[in-house]
Amino acid sequence: MYDVNEIRKDFPILSREVYGKPLVYLDNGASAQKPQVVIDAVVRGYSEEYANVHRGLHYLSNIATDKYEAVRGIVQKFLGAEREEEILFTSGSTEGLNLVSYGWAVPNLKAGDEIILSVMEHHANIVPWHFLRERMGVVLKWVDIAEDGSLDPQAVIDAISPRTKMVAITHMSNVLGTVVDVKTIIAAAHEKGVVVCVDGSQSTVHMPVNVADLDADFYVITGHKLYGPSGSGAIYIKSERQAEMRPFMGGGDMIDEVTKDNVTYNTPPHKFEAGTPAIIQIIGMGVALEYMMDIGMENIAAHEATLFTYANARLRGLNYINIQGNAPGKGAIFSLTMNGAAHAHDISTIVDRKGVAIRAGNHCAQPLMQHLGVTATVRASFGMYNTVEEVDVLIDALETCHELLG
Ligand SMILES: Cc1ncc(COP(=O)(O)O)c(C=O)c1O
Repeated sequence: MYDVNEIRKDFPILSREVYGKPLVYLDNGASAQKPQVVIDAVVRGYSEEYANVHRGLHYLSNIATDKYEAVRGIVQKFLGAEREEEILFTSGSTEGLNLVSYGWAVPNLKAGDEIILSVMEHHANIVPWHFLRERMGVVLKWVDIAEDGSLDPQAVIDAISPRTKMVAITHMSNVLGTVVDVKTIIAAAHEKGVVVCVDGSQSTVHMPVNVADLDADFYVITGHKLYGPSGSGAIYIKSERQAEMRPFMGGGDMIDEVTKDNVTYNTPPHKFEAGTPAIIQIIGMGVALEYMMDIGMENIAAHEATLFTYANARLRGLNYINIQGNAPGKGAIFSLTMNGAAHAHDISTIVDRKGVAIRAGNHCAQPLMQHLGVTATVRASFGMYNTVEEVDVLIDALETCHELLG
């Protein structure tokens, strides 16, 4: 039985007030709150078990190394990867996607080669590819979404040409909540020898994911959205792709031997992890992922589906609210605009005074904003600890906005 009130007790921040009102935290798409087990792991890490990893032979270094390295197995399980070495630690999705760009694409692509993107990518899955366009003459090909915000996998498949080397695509839009059928895209892309990089920053928060079943080449996740510390993340990279990569950052830990004339590298995944990592953050991410797996990703998805259905019905009852995107099977992420002159920033400021945290802006997805013909939206994004009562508070706050601004 999913008991949301029990889950809420695990998150100390949820019992605080803002402006004298109970906090209603609906900015999970930007970053999620942390359960006590993660906070405790971070405190314990720094107060009892801290030392640098890999290099020391002393007691604390061994504990820190064991705990840090154990997270690889946890991420492997969370993502359903076949091999632990296919999991690399990063500081988040942004670093993961830049690693794919510098580590895999730079040595494997040349001028005129194409990368296919959807118009609903986050800037983190756009700008690293723009670098290749600017610096190497790689061509970016954009695939549009349908009127309802869904992405037809066939549109992506049809965009593949003999020059296409990679598809870089989100698994779930951080703006519209659209879930992309990446499995169909990956199968068709592989038939044509095209590699697929999936941005799993949002999907992994809301639904079970299995990278082996998807057959993804690259799959990035970010710890702070997964109820873990900021500065933590991971990327799954299929072994065949790792063999085609060059290290992106050079430094300690990633080498085998360094002389004045030469350098040889450590074995993967360490070959792609230079320098002192975010030790305690990664350990905290491991605790967060175990916490999610204990609750069960299917259970989290089912709870959020209930929230989605309720919020969707209530929002659609407000005739001055437009919900951007209504793709079948979308996640509990709502981007809203209000009829009339109300600007997203004004809406979020008024709603904030009611204790409701939502986000206003372009959500790091300017090409999507251009496609939608808006400059900004407000976004209410739900997490495992949100309740239907909180949806009601959001609706009341939007009603107040409408009275003041409409
Ligand atoms: C879909 C998507 N991709 C990438 C990112 C970037 O993640 P991070 O800032 O954690 O690196 C985000 C974060 O908002 C996101 O929502």
